[in-house]
Amino acid sequence: MKSNKKTIYLDNAATTYTDERVVNAMLPYFGTMYGNPHSLHSYGLDAQKVVDISRESVAHILSCTPQEIIFTSGGTESVNLAIKGVAFSKGSGHIITSKIEHPAVLRTCEFLEKNGFTVTYLNVDKDGIVNPQDVQKAITKNTILISIMYANNEIGTIEPIQDIGNIARKHNILFHTDACQATGSLSLDVSHLNVDLMTLNGSKVYGPKGVGILYTRNGVTLQPLIHGGGQEFTMRSGTENVPAIVGFAKAMEYAHREKKKENKRLIQLRDTFITNVIKTIPKSFLNGHPTERLPNNVNISFLDVEGESVLLYLNEKGIAVSTGSACSSKELEISHVLDAIGLKHDAAHGSIRFTIGRKTTTQDLKYVLTVLTPIIETLRRISPVKVKKSEIRK
Ligand SMILES: Cc1ncc(COP(=O)(O)O)c(C=O)c1O
Repeated sequence: MKSNKKTIYLDNAATTYTDERVVNAMLPYFGTMYGNPHSLHSYGLDAQKVVDISRESVAHILSCTPQEIIFTSGGTESVNLAIKGVAFSKGSGHIITSKIEHPAVLRTCEFLEKNGFTVTYLNVDKDGIVNPQDVQKAITKNTILISIMYANNEIGTIEPIQDIGNIARKHNILFHTDACQATGSLSLDVSHLNVDLMTLNGSKVYGPKGVGILYTRNGVTLQPLIHGGGQEFTMRSGTENVPAIVGFAKAMEYAHREKKKENKRLIQLRDTFITNVIKTIPKSFLNGHPTERLPNNVNISFLDVEGESVLLYLNEKGIAVSTGSACSSKELEISHVLDAIGLKHDAAHGSIRFTIGRKTTTQDLKYVLTVLTPIIETLRRISPVKVKKSEIRK
């Protein structure tokens, strides 16, 4: 934002800013150290060295080997590589996923359905939790892959990944988790998570945009989607984005190191904000699981208002939030996630996602509440919709 107006950014699930320490670590690789990692001269060798160091650093955080880390252009590409990569290598089969996945997963699965694969989209409960027993029941002799997200980008609910991974392992079925939203705050130790494939994203963890990772367990066969020079162990051809890889690895190092303290701070801010909003603004309620949720996620429905209007009024006051996921913010349909947790159309329409971040303070959230309360009151005065409490859920 260009003006001097006070601004409060509460859309950290869409993207975080890039940490200054990360930017500084990246700068040399735009400047003097611009070599292509595949060149054989010193410029190339220096670039190769820093990519190797970055890969080792990420592998250390995931408790895996560097050869199991594939750098990509972001969450969407990693998800595509995981799901299509398994599907194309098997040739046919059945995939299990959930109704609340990010469009990167849902649209990829729909594409595969048009190409001969079958897909089961599991329901979730009212808090957005996938029941591992439902995963178990959906398995058929043709199931080749289970893909369930680690944490939901809209309502913040954390899924029982370990349990689902256990079931997948017992049946010898590959398990992918989209961990884009979990990258900065949850455990990424793949030896405990029971995952075979895991998608990570740089832009949610105070790293740069346009860089991702697909963790691929040793022994998992993927069909690459991008063919060419054979980079990234032949899984993702194309000259590596060296500054972004360096930045992503640095961002993960900082997040990993500071996670314990920062999560505690975020959870306190989150829970105080939830309590205060619900206490102060009538006809408001929390979406997502009350405790099994990302430390920075607050998703609240305000009955009898349109989320888009709330977003625009808050934006006028310098406060950035989102309705549903960033990708669907421009559409007027209700979010598929709120639909899946059972909200009726009118009840889901006034839902706002506030995702707090490293720079959010107690004062910021107090200010947001003082601005939000009259906005909701004003919008309700002119609203033709009056939803009764009994009409919230389907
Ligand atoms: C859960 C989840 N998966 C996938 C993505 C896609 O990541 P990208 O936009 O970096 O491709 C996002 C980004 O919002 C996300 O939150």
